[in-house]
Amino acid sequence: MAAGSRVFEGSNLSMSDQTPSSTQIKPNEQRPEHPDFWCKRFGDGTTPWDAGKVPAAFADFIARQPAPCNMLIPGCGSAWEAGFLAEHGWPVTALDFSPLAVNAAREVLGDAPVDLVCDDFFTFIPRRPTQLIYERAFLCALPRKLWADWGRRVAELLPGGGLLAGYFFLCEQPKGPPFGIQPEQLDELLAANFERIEDAAVDDSIPVFLGKERWQVWRRR
Ligand SMILES: C[S@@+](CC[C@H](N)C(=O)[O-])C[C@H]1O[C@@H](n2cnc3c(N)ncnc32)[C@H](O)[C@@H]1O
Repeated sequence: MAAGSRVFEGSNLSMSDQTPSSTQIKPNEQRPEHPDFWCKRFGDGTTPWDAGKVPAAFADFIARQPAPCNMLIPGCGSAWEAGFLAEHGWPVTALDFSPLAVNAAREVLGDAPVDLVCDDFFTFIPRRPTQLIYERAFLCALPRKLWADWGRRVAELLPGGGLLAGYFFLCEQPKGPPFGIQPEQLDELLAANFERIEDAAVDDSIPVFLGKERWQVWRRR
């Protein structure tokens, strides 16, 4: 194993397996902005971010909504939440650019009525208007250079009053994924177009996010 590399298995909770180097051109499977990075991990069965369940604050949030509306789950991975939403009569689009992630989602979803799409969040054309975007382990999967694009894209996809709801990995963790974001950096990405209307501690985090994630809801202005 090369010096500086880390094995992505067992007790290692990182989603990455190599120390970044600015002098090397990395292969696609070491670049989280590329689907091959995620295909490798789904293919190896190394998915420490996968909760294998629907997180509690999300289920509670859905129960509090007055009526189902069009939900988008970008970077859906295994898409546990999409199955839950479909069961509760919500129209849901689950999107991932890794074909192996989409295969994993298909296994989890069975014949649940979910619009499961293999495409890139930054360029896909939605088949229906989005009213709610669910965030879990997607922003923290993106290299920092894509964060501003993420902020612009969520604002572009949501109409006034639309909601961005989910879990945010708030910490100083420059090596990733998962890449930590500081609260003030998240504000910088969202505050121009969104108002934060919920912010709560999370008590059912899986180890990779333990003590470092918060449940938040942001309303599009
Ligand atoms: C850390 S995983 C999280 C999966 C899921 N949200 C969960 O909570 O289990 C990040 C996912 O985002 C997907 N992804 C990363 N960049 C993407 C992009 N630009 N468009 C669509 N999916 C993307 C990856 O393929 C991967 O499945």
